[in-house]
Amino acid sequence: MRSFAKVLALAAVALKVVSAADETTTCSEDSHCPEDNPCCNQYGTCGTGSYCLGGCNPKFSYKKEACMPLPVCRDTITIFDNYTSKMANLYTYLGDASKANWTYEGYPIDYEDENALIMAMPKNSGGTVLSSTHYMWYGNIKTRMKASHGAGVVSAMILFSSVQDEIDYEWVGADLEKVQTNWYWQGALNYTNSKNLTATNNDEDYHIYEIDWKEDVITWSVDGEVGRTLFKNETYNSTSKQYEYPQTPSRVQLSLWPGGNATNEQGTINWAGGEIDWDSDDIKDYGYYYAVLESVNITCYDPPSGTTKNGSEVYQYSGEDNWLQKGVFITDGNTILKDYDNSGLDDNTPDESSSSSSSSSTSSSSKSSSTSTGSSSGSASTTTTAGSNDDTDESSSSSTSSSAAAGFVQNMSTTSSSGNSSSATSTSAAGAEKNLSYGFGLSLISLLLSLL
Ligand SMILES: *[C@@H]1O[C@H](CO)[C@@H](O)[C@H](O)[C@H]1NC(C)=O
Ligand SMILES: *[C@@H]1O[C@H](CO)[C@@H](O)[C@H](O)[C@H]1NC(C)=O
Ligand SMILES: *[C@@H]1O[C@H](CO)[C@@H](O)[C@H](O)[C@H]1NC(C)=O
Ligand SMILES: *[C@@H]1O[C@H](CO)[C@@H](O)[C@H](O)[C@H]1NC(C)=O
Ligand SMILES: *[C@@H]1O[C@H](CO)[C@@H](O)[C@H](O)[C@H]1NC(C)=O
Ligand SMILES: *[C@@H]1O[C@H](CO)[C@@H](O)[C@H](O)[C@H]1NC(C)=O
Ligand SMILES: *[C@@H]1O[C@H](CO)[C@@H](O)[C@H](O)[C@H]1NC(C)=O
Ligand SMILES: *[C@@H]1O[C@H](CO)[C@@H](O)[C@H](O)[C@H]1NC(C)=O
Ligand SMILES: *[C@@H]1O[C@H](CO)[C@@H](O)[C@H](O)[C@H]1NC(C)=O
Ligand SMILES: *[C@@H]1O[C@H](CO)[C@@H](O)[C@H](O)[C@H]1NC(C)=O
Ligand SMILES: *[C@@H]1O[C@H](CO)[C@@H](O)[C@H](O)[C@H]1NC(C)=O
Ligand SMILES: *[C@@H]1O[C@H](CO)[C@@H](O)[C@H](O)[C@H]1NC(C)=O
Repeated sequence: MRSFAKVLALAAVALKVVSAADETTTCSEDSHCPEDNPCCNQYGTCGTGSYCLGGCNPKFSYKKEACMPLPVCRDTITIFDNYTSKMANLYTYLGDASKANWTYEGYPIDYEDENALIMAMPKNSGGTVLSSTHYMWYGNIKTRMKASHGAGVVSAMILFSSVQDEIDYEWVGADLEKVQTNWYWQGALNYTNSKNLTATNNDEDYHIYEIDWKEDVITWSVDGEVGRTLFKNETYNSTSKQYEYPQTPSRVQLSLWPGGNATNEQGTINWAGGEIDWDSDDIKDYGYYYAVLESVNITCYDPPSGTTKNGSEVYQYSGEDNWLQKGVFITDGNTILKDYDNSGLDDNTPDESSSSSSSSSTSSSSKSSSTSTGSSSGSASTTTTAGSNDDTDESSSSSTSSSAAAGFVQNMSTTSSSGNSSSATSTSAAGAEKNLSYGFGLSLISLLLSLL
């Protein structure tokens, strides 16, 4: 565990590279967040607002109550057809899971030709992350998708909990015939848990990748064939006398990230299949690397029998029982922050006047217009043509025609070289680059550790 803290610190250093302009306070087991930035996010950085929602770590935050309660699992079918306008920007989302099933960071793009969604990764960027707004506490997830390709380009589909339980699929773009599976318990690093499954031609062919997560067993399946099984009873640690098995409410996350970026640790780059070529054909032709998501279906299973329950809306940690399954209860509670400066420690009771929908649209406009993705989360958006990242109203038509031939609705090198305001560009500059944390989950962190 000591080494783990060290790893988080390392990851935080990496994060600083990206958000160099910002003062970042990092958090870990040994160093909780301060009172004024009380929430420790998934990437080990302290803040308010989005930091206190999905991924907020109750162990490393100022107090566990700084993290907002977690919306319970909801059966969901998402067909990513013309879907970008239905997602909420992570940094303007305030926690109203009834308004959006997914948040995004980075560059999601509608892909008309395949009625799907592109997770894009423009040159030098941190790529794209989609996260479910609801948590899952056991359930089944199936994703029909195409991974990306190219050395150093990593696609991922994971379940990740607030206390860092993790169940993974990762596609390393240097090997288009396999998908790696992995799992972690509370961020404890174990390099023996990785296993490859066959997934042929996975950048050009759709496959269905499934994780079936039950209280006593996890299976990973590709196109309906079980490729891997992990029994809880195989994870017992006789020293700590507990099952070190992924067992806490988790978000579903999908991502494309630059494991092989030159600024990463050598071990990460090696694992990712080498350094990324940022002048590749994909970058030249489209302006980005891409993975394609067609649909994600989530089926919820019952919470463990014996779970303490005095409501039905949210999961919460009691802070007891070593943050294991039995330290989670189900209750009712508000999941929505009043504003970006707030955390779960504040009174988030909505104002009378703005009633229910004080969440995304109203308040996003109160913040810097650079990210103004209020539009992406619905309402006011123009989002006319597919291809606009969210609110682009110019640029889309011109880029549509030029890129349609090649099959992509938006040619990012065209849009971004046209400079200026198009949100696809400005979001990336202002919102994503600055805010988008680095890499993805522990899989990355673990690789950083492997160098120590
Ligand atoms: C979220 O998922 C639910 C259940 O599938 C669905 O009814 C709802 O329309 C979805 N919301 C959005 C914004 O897609
Ligand atoms: C895409 O969705 C938007 C917003 O819901 C809608 O206005 C638009 O007509 C849709 N476009 C297509 C091509 O279906
Ligand atoms: C990738 O590396 C380049 C330098 O080659 C750097 O400018 C950029 O910030 C890095 N991107 C990420 C996401 O680490
Ligand atoms: C999700 O469910 C829809 C509707 O049944 C289906 O069309 C789609 O293929 C499913 N996707 C996956 C990945 O199973
Ligand atoms: C890693 O996990 C395996 C079981 O998958 C276990 O046998 C082994 O002891 C673990 N090693 C460490 C260092 O935790
Ligand atoms: C999985 O495949 C990659 C190559 O794609 C290889 O480097 C790695 O060692 C394999 N992992 C296991 C556990 O066999
Ligand atoms: C774990 O449980 C499974 C299913 O009940 C059983 O088949 C298996 O033998 C058990 N393994 C161990 C190590 O106890
Ligand atoms: C079992 O737990 C002990 C005490 O927490 C820890 O030091 C050890 O690394 C764990 N062993 C494995 C195999 O995970
Ligand atoms: C449920 O129990 C929790 C923990 O004891 C308590 O804080 C909360 O007020 C209760 N909620 C309801 C709706 O009774
Ligand atoms: C995208 O734009 C770049 C730069 O303008 C151009 O060189 C490239 O051919 C375009 N790609 C497509 C597919 O239109
Ligand atoms: C950027 O776009 C806005 C409106 O979309 C326009 O008013 C402004 O002149 C443009 N700036 C440049 C430098 O092109
Ligand atoms: C992230 O973006 C939001 C919205 O633009 C902004 O309010 C917040 O300060 C940013 N956080 C960081 C750490 O850059």
